[in-house]
Amino acid sequence: MAEVNVPQHVGIIMDGNGRWAKKRGLPRSFGHKQGAAVFKKTINWARELGIKCVTFYAFSTENWKRSPQEVRFLMGFSREIIHRRVAQMDDWGVRVRWSGRRPKLWKSVIDELEVAMERTKHNKVIDVVFCINYGGRAEIADACAEIAREVAAGRIKGDRVTEKMIADHLYNPDIPDCDLVIRTSGEQRTSNFLPWEAAYAELDFVPELFPDCGRDVLWRSIDHYIHRDRRFGGVKK
Ligand code: IPE
Ligand code: IPE
Ligand code: MG
Repeated sequence: MAEVNVPQHVGIIMDGNGRWAKKRGLPRSFGHKQGAAVFKKTINWARELGIKCVTFYAFSTENWKRSPQEVRFLMGFSREIIHRRVAQMDDWGVRVRWSGRRPKLWKSVIDELEVAMERTKHNKVIDVVFCINYGGRAEIADACAEIAREVAAGRIKGDRVTEKMIADHLYNPDIPDCDLVIRTSGEQRTSNFLPWEAAYAELDFVPELFPDCGRDVLWRSIDHYIHRDRRFGGVKK
């Protein structure tokens, strides 16, 4: 696969862990564990392809609606995965990032993210963004609140708010727009994932449940992407 054409930034909605477990008569947590194994491998597959950034949707601002047991499991497990995988990610040249809201998120998860971000901050091979307690509308609202504070402080004129200003106040303003969003498990929706950054992304909905995804699934999505005709509102000659 020619490296020049691969998307720079891929977003992955890792969906179907619960169904994977249910099919086997197992608790949902088993699906999350299997999903975590695929998550780790996906970082390596993306790196091999020359992709510069992958954003993983791990826990949404809406996922607090799940049972207290599942929420507790997902919080503890996220913390453990970041802790357990940071050395491997560092070896691979991954720069760890986080997108999400602080309130409600377990402090131990934030602490683990901060340790990982600090340890890997000089790495340059690939950015891996963990979306944990992430909601796209929350991200835009948080950006607007920050801009409103700057308007109140007299640093920005209220009638001069631009798209670039909003983009500059997102959680990770240096990360380029998302080129390709992949959602597993056959669901055809984006569930509040990167509404701003993926406004012009190509979408690929794949039938496989996330824990069943191998390298071939990522390759197939990248192949679909390469054959898409991106026009951004213009006309191709
Ligand atoms: C994705 O799998 C993981 C998270 C949202 C945390 P699900 O847990 O949504 O699995 P399904 O959709 O119920 O199969
Ligand atoms: C989206 O999956 C969120 C994550 C993958 C973290 P969900 O399973 O929560 O989304 P819905 O409820 O099917 O829209
Ligand atoms: Mg789901």
